[in-house]
Amino acid sequence: MRLYGLLLLSLTFWKSHSVFKIPLNIFAGKFNASVQLDLRPLQKNEAAAKSGLSLASDPAGIVNFLDMINNLKGDSGRGYYMQMIIGTPGQTLNILVDTGSSNFAVAAAAHPYITHYFNRALSSTYQSTERAVAVKYTQGEWEGELGTDLITIPEGPSGAITINIAAILTSEGFFLPGINWQGILGLAYPLLARPDPSVEPFFNSVVRQTGIPDVFSLQMCGAGVPASTTGDPAGGSLIMGGVEPTLHRGPIWYTPVLEEWYYQVEVLKLEVGDQNLNLDCKEYNSDKAIVDSGTTLLRLPANVFTAVVDTIMQTSLIDDFSAGFFDGTKLACWMRGESPWRFFPKVSIYLRGTNTSQSFRITILPQLYIQPVTDIDGTLDCFRFGISPSANGLVIGATVMEGFYVIFDRAQKRVGFAVSTCAENGGVPFAEIAGPFLAEGVASDCTSGMTLREPVMWVIAYTLMGVCAVVLIILLVLLILPCRRHRDDEITDESSLVRHRIK
Ligand SMILES: *[C@@H]1O[C@H](CO)[C@@H](O)[C@H](O)[C@H]1NC(C)=O
Ligand SMILES: *[C@@H]1O[C@H](CO)[C@@H](O)[C@H](O)[C@H]1NC(C)=O
Repeated sequence: MRLYGLLLLSLTFWKSHSVFKIPLNIFAGKFNASVQLDLRPLQKNEAAAKSGLSLASDPAGIVNFLDMINNLKGDSGRGYYMQMIIGTPGQTLNILVDTGSSNFAVAAAAHPYITHYFNRALSSTYQSTERAVAVKYTQGEWEGELGTDLITIPEGPSGAITINIAAILTSEGFFLPGINWQGILGLAYPLLARPDPSVEPFFNSVVRQTGIPDVFSLQMCGAGVPASTTGDPAGGSLIMGGVEPTLHRGPIWYTPVLEEWYYQVEVLKLEVGDQNLNLDCKEYNSDKAIVDSGTTLLRLPANVFTAVVDTIMQTSLIDDFSAGFFDGTKLACWMRGESPWRFFPKVSIYLRGTNTSQSFRITILPQLYIQPVTDIDGTLDCFRFGISPSANGLVIGATVMEGFYVIFDRAQKRVGFAVSTCAENGGVPFAEIAGPFLAEGVASDCTSGMTLREPVMWVIAYTLMGVCAVVLIILLVLLILPCRRHRDDEITDESSLVRHRIK
């Protein structure tokens, strides 16, 4: 209603929607302006770490969670990455953390947008498998070669681990201007690994070789820090092996992982302000709902997105709001110091509880989804809308995850959420969590039929692979050409799964 100096700026470089659709949704860093980053969340974590409040560490002493606090840098726009040392002697690279894929892949050749790459020839422990591997996203892709090598994580579990590495030799739209990472760490399940699930994902290797519990947790601290500035990135923590109590406030609520490929969860209900969207709950999970740190925004199926935007417009107290803001083609700018957050409602997502007749809700405040971008001319504060429509499912991306400490409890097939200690300003948290609520009135299964399609394709793929293996053995015996060609054809089929990937 009373709104001073609301301006909508059309930014021509935003007309390219690709900014939001590319894999990992990394901003190209086209905004240049100096901005004072709010580093208080980081300092807070450091203080907690130094005070030695945390008692969590495993009895075997392989993991010390305190060493892992603040081991990430980055923000939702450019992604969160951690330092790893690859090969012998070690080569240091920054690796993006992505819970929406399952390959560990690093640049192995020069590219204009990266400063350095992993030089396989210089590592005495690198072993090539001479298998080709390719990952194709909706936009952007890379191709390379599979191998294995030793890695160590300076701020992770101690010791060297042998892992599968995809050496990226060529890529298109994967590395982008302004990023400060040279590789990607896919933390999802083997089913998503390329070229097939026999390529053991990084975290599976870590658990098998170090014996740490099959759990990792993520705290991403970029909330409120303008994306795509030229300044230092914010930070976060990837705790491997468990849960670090100093990173969350209040209880952890768990939701079951429905299928182990992405971290697929079941969304029962959405609310904007106090208003239930009242859609059929299947709409929220069409064709799946996943938790993905490699996606910047909260992405919603088209119908759900429309309903959310309509409800926000009704309740936002802003009369003449341009639609361009909601479709991501415009920024909304206010006079400096005129915080817009009080004009917008909270958004709540209800997730199925581990007791399936119950649910709990995670709530994000506008501070998380009305995101500061940068100062355009020194007198304005500009913001983008942190929610976007999706053609292939609901994605709980960094926009939401930044409000929570998120626990990927693979051992118990569940994902936990608790309010993050770094998502707050002046003691006011940007996220809330509440439960339990009765799941009555909600279908007992909000996902039926939705996810079968692709697993069925995997069954077909495995069957074909089995057939292929038999043929290979016969052919080898006969000393004729190996099966490689057949398998390549088949990989093309499998990649439909990747093409449907939400990024
Ligand atoms: C961004 O910074 C570069 C180098 O300082 C400058 O050449 C360019 O004009 C700037 N772009 C904008 C949009 O201000
Ligand atoms: C699950 O939730 C229902 C509804 O609140 C409750 O009646 C039931 O006792 C719970 N079951 C367990 C095992 O806690």
